[in-house]
Amino acid sequence: MSDALDDPLAREKDLAARAAVRRVRTGMRLALGTGSTAAYAVRAIAERFPGGEGIDAVASSRMTEELARSLGLGVRPLAADDRFDLMLDGADEVTPRLELTKGGGGALFREKFLARLSREVAIMVDHTKLVPELGHRSAIPIEVVPFARPVVARQLTGQGYGVVLRGADTASGVARTDNHNEILDLRPPRPVHDAAALEASLRAIPGVVETGIFVGLAHRILVGLPDGSVQEVLPPGEPRAR
Ligand code: 5RP
Repeated sequence: MSDALDDPLAREKDLAARAAVRRVRTGMRLALGTGSTAAYAVRAIAERFPGGEGIDAVASSRMTEELARSLGLGVRPLAADDRFDLMLDGADEVTPRLELTKGGGGALFREKFLARLSREVAIMVDHTKLVPELGHRSAIPIEVVPFARPVVARQLTGQGYGVVLRGADTASGVARTDNHNEILDLRPPRPVHDAAALEASLRAIPGVVETGIFVGLAHRILVGLPDGSVQEVLPPGEPRAR
């Protein structure tokens, strides 16, 4: 891909995606994430498995579904008893404890839903996504029911959060997720020392459907580095072989 060659960060994403796709085996049930890095993974899967032969996949967004189909990879709807061998996805932030911020592409609900159904979740990022704590690099998105959104936004503003309604300042207007909900991008009032507690407190607000905080869901991080190598990060204390 020409942009992978021209843009250093795109190259790192592509490297990480290719390393993750090396984990894909014929016959696997795959959950496909959303975003530019997930798109590199979809392209790499299409290269390795022409026509999608031997691949059974569900996508976390219409965008990923359309890309996969355009490359000849069959993608099917979620089934009642679905479990996935491997989920491949990107992230906006990754801490050393493998906590994630996700949802830059607006697919956080479906991504988290599929991650919970996946035996292994491999996250692919460029090196700029590594942070000591969540909230360092990106806003934390929450998916909110549109009816409730003004109340939720006011409540969070009152608690000291910076709150931005995604898309409100753009020509195309307020963004809607694939679930027809809206997204509030939050800047927490203080550093996020306890991601699980923040996740729980945000989820407890009526009208909040899901948050972009992922705790205990990622099994491995593949980080594309400027020198062309890929670093694998596992949960603290976990042996390398898996
Ligand atoms: C989409 C996501 C993406 O994985 C995240 O925003 C990273 O995107 P990119 O790979 O384009 O940097 O969570 O909802």
